[in-house]
Amino acid sequence: MSEYILEVKNLKKYFPADRGLFGRVRHFVHAVDDVSFEIKYGESLGLVGESGCGKTTTGKVIVKLEEPTDGTLLLEGEDVSTYVGARKKEYHRKVQMIFQDPYESLNPRMTIFDIIAEPLNIHGIGNLKEREERVSELLQEVGLTPPSSFLWRYPHELSGGQRQRVAIARALVLNPSFVVADEPTSMLDVSIRTGIMELMMELREAHNMSYLYITHDLAVARYMCERIAVMYLGKIVEISETEELLHNPLHPYTRALLAAVPVPDPEFSRGEPEIIGSVTKPIDPPPRCRFYDRCPIRTKDCEISDHPPLVEVLPGHFVACYEVEKQKRG
Ligand SMILES: Nc1ncnc2c1ncn2[C@@H]1O[C@H](COP(=O)(O)OP(=O)(O)OP(=O)(O)O)[C@@H](O)[C@H]1O
Ligand code: SF4
Ligand SMILES: [Mg+2]
Repeated sequence: MSEYILEVKNLKKYFPADRGLFGRVRHFVHAVDDVSFEIKYGESLGLVGESGCGKTTTGKVIVKLEEPTDGTLLLEGEDVSTYVGARKKEYHRKVQMIFQDPYESLNPRMTIFDIIAEPLNIHGIGNLKEREERVSELLQEVGLTPPSSFLWRYPHELSGGQRQRVAIARALVLNPSFVVADEPTSMLDVSIRTGIMELMMELREAHNMSYLYITHDLAVARYMCERIAVMYLGKIVEISETEELLHNPLHPYTRALLAAVPVPDPEFSRGEPEIIGSVTKPIDPPPRCRFYDRCPIRTKDCEISDHPPLVEVLPGHFVACYEVEKQKRG
């Protein structure tokens, strides 16, 4: 058996950036560009990075809401990349996604029962009574109690936090082994975020799940995840265990993120040279390092070389940067 629940190999997703005459695509957004990582059983891997760097697209490709341009996906050691039809449907039982916006992700015309039970319906699981029992059990588990007072209500009657709990219950109804959580707390009031994060942690334990936890907030990733992958314009630039990454960030982009974002711990504030400019769209990017235009330590070599590969510079700590690699190799 594989040691990993999920293995992502050389994943790419390009979107058409515009269309020319006769609908021919001339330019592509390289939203996810040759990304590889693994997630262990029971592990939560954080995927962090600024807006537009490809986090959601990575998640959608993994749960097969988007077809990849290229790359391989293995779930529990099995190649699921080419699954279509019935096998893809089966895959959707094991892998679920929770979205950022609980206002958009729930159908306003459906009752809470119908929303949570819909996947059971799609997969033909249980009769009405069994479905009602299952949905009640889940409402209880996500803290919407007593379940009878929620079953027949509509999303608009619920608060943002309650809606997100419904979305979580829906994601769990088929007993998935792997969940992509796409910033599930970022649209919620600060006061209720911790409650949702705690719930996500408890559910992971109780149901033996693994997460890809997407967030742009390093403090959230620190709380939720054993390891963190930092993404920049479609590429993973650094990946390591959480505390190692926060105490010893090596890639200039990770260092800048940490300098800019107040992780609540004075130890982490460091006087970094600021990165230049702001994030852009990776439309037909040149082959060189994706961070080149904003990098405070770039060299002539970086300009003429391909994007650097992810290299293990310390045990379990991978970085994609020629300069860091040079320093570490002495
Ligand atoms: N369906 C699409 N068609 C065309 N371009 C897309 C599509 N979806 C995403 N993109 C582009 O791909 C890039 C990555 O987008 P993505 O939504 O994955 O980023 P993100 O890291 O999740 O950002 P955010 O933090 O804002 O949610 C962006 O440049 C975005 O404009
Ligand atoms: S490879 Fe060069 S341009 Fe890219 S991050 Fe490292 S130093 Fe900067
Ligand atoms: Mg996103």
